[in-house]
Order: sequence, then C-alpha cells, then structure tokens
Amino acid sequence: MIFPVQKRHLFRKSRLLQPPKGVLLYGPPGCGKTLIAKATAKEAGFAFINLKPSTLKDKWYGESQKLTAAVFSLASKLGPTIIFIDEIDSFLRSRSSRDHEVTAMMKAQFMSLWDGLETDHQCQVIIMGATNRPEDIDPAILRRMPTKIHIKLPNIEQCKQILRLILENETVDPLTNLSHIARETEGFSGSDLKEICREAALLCVREIMDSDTLSDDCIRPISQDDLQKATTKMKESKSPGGLTLDEALSYYS
Ligand SMILES: Nc1ncnc2c1ncn2[C@@H]1O[C@H](COP(=O)(O)OP(=O)(O)OP(=O)(O)O)[C@@H](O)[C@H]1O
Ligand SMILES: [Mg+2]
Repeated sequence: MIFPVQKRHLFRKSRLLQPPKGVLLYGPPGCGKTLIAKATAKEAGFAFINLKPSTLKDKWYGESQKLTAAVFSLASKLGPTIIFIDEIDSFLRSRSSRDHEVTAMMKAQFMSLWDGLETDHQCQVIIMGATNRPEDIDPAILRRMPTKIHIKLPNIEQCKQILRLILENETVDPLTNLSHIARETEGFSGSDLKEICREAALLCVREIMDSDTLSDDCIRPISQDDLQKATTKMKESKSPGGLTLDEALSYYS
C-alpha cells in the first residue's frame, strides 16, 4: 500500500501496480487493527481521515448524502489519503429491505463514490476498514476491499517483542526474562499485554502508597515477579471459572 505512493516512479508503468482502493483489516479484538491503520498513514505520509459514521448522519433529509460526497471530495483534494472506518461492520453491514431509506441511500452512494476512486487513476485515496466481524459486512463492500489482512493473535515470539516495545521506556529490572513471560501469555492480545505491563507498573507504585516509610522517589523497577503476578491476574479474569487447579498450584506455590 505504501510503496506505490512513496516510490511512484517504479509503480507508474502498470495499472496493476496501483495501490488497492480498499483494504480490510480483520481479526480478534485488541490485536492492533486500529493501531496498524494509524501507523500506516504515519509511515506513508498519507493524510488520515478517521470517518465516524455518526458524522455523516443528519436530521435533515438529503444532508447525509451531501456530507458523504464532501468526505470523498475532501479526500481527493488532500492528495494521498486514507479514509479509515473503524468497526466498518456496523456502518456498512449487509443491506436488508428493512433498512431505513436514508441508510440505504447512504450505503449506495458510498459504493458509487468508491467506484469513482477506481476510475480515477491519479486519485490516491484508500478506504481502510477494520472489523472483528467480517461476516457481517455487505458482500458488495467486501468486493471493494480486495486486500484483506488477517490480524491474528500474536505468537510467543511476537508477544515477547510487544512486551519489549511496551516496556521500552520504563525502568525494568535487568534480570527480567521476557521470554518466560511471553510463554505464559499465549493466546493474549496486544491489548492484554499492555494491560499486564500497566498492572505490573502499578504494583510498584502501590507499594509506595501502602508504605509509611518509603519515600515517593524510590519507586523500584518493574520486576519479573510483578509481571508474573499481573499475568496471573489477567489469566484469572480471562477464564470465566478462574484458574484450573494445576495452574493455581504452579502460580501460588
Ligand atoms: N501488535 C501490537 N503491538 C503493540 N501494541 C499493541 C499491539 N496490538 C495491540 N496493542 C495495544 O493494544 C491497544 C489496542 O489495540 P487496537 O485498538 O489497535 O485493537 P483493535 O484490533 O482495533 O481492537 P478492536 O477490534 O477491539 O477495535 C493499542 O493501543 C496498543 O496499545
Ligand atoms: Mg479497533
């Protein structure tokens, strides 16, 4: 997506090498879909329009269509632009005969304006959608997003990298073994990992708050034990029945 805009001289020759007009990011919650959309815009130097469907709605008949047209017109004037629609399934879900007239018209207009981007080869507008329910999106919309990227839960190595990234600017005990923590966090999302680190950092501050003797400026670094406790807490909150006996014994022994 980024290269056709950044290295235009290489990609100009063929129409097949033009960036896709629609990209869908889908996958489980908290795995960084919204984050990736923002990062792509920043990395590529694209303008970024975060389109909230509620901004297109108006109490006056016909205003929604005008606003939709205005968004596309603004995007094409801004140069390379990403129009980002988060939770796209709620806005462009499968059409049904029970749809309100204005909603149906808005969806139809959105699709035809989108087709307009396809025809105009100079126009560098990409519509990017994120969802964790791709099956709810209208098939006609799915067709307009030929590039579909599945953002999965991170594997152990990726968990380790995410933990390292989140803890990069924090004071962490040098003896901390992130590989060990990463192995315990299998099946956790990026958002869960951030919460674990936050909880671990909070444990260090809580010690100061609970103690009468420790002064405010001697907050200790985050240790392996803090991360371990935070991971256990997260596991407990994730499993509806709490920890299994084996897990509980291994963590609390
Ligand atoms: N791969 C990752 N690397 C670093 N941080 C991550 C990663 N994935 C998620 N996070 C953290 O989790 C937070 C939530 O991620 P984000 O909002 O992008 O999830 P999402 O996939 O859009 O979830 P949802 O489907 O619920 O909207 C991010 O702000 C970031 O702090
Ligand atoms: Mg999101």
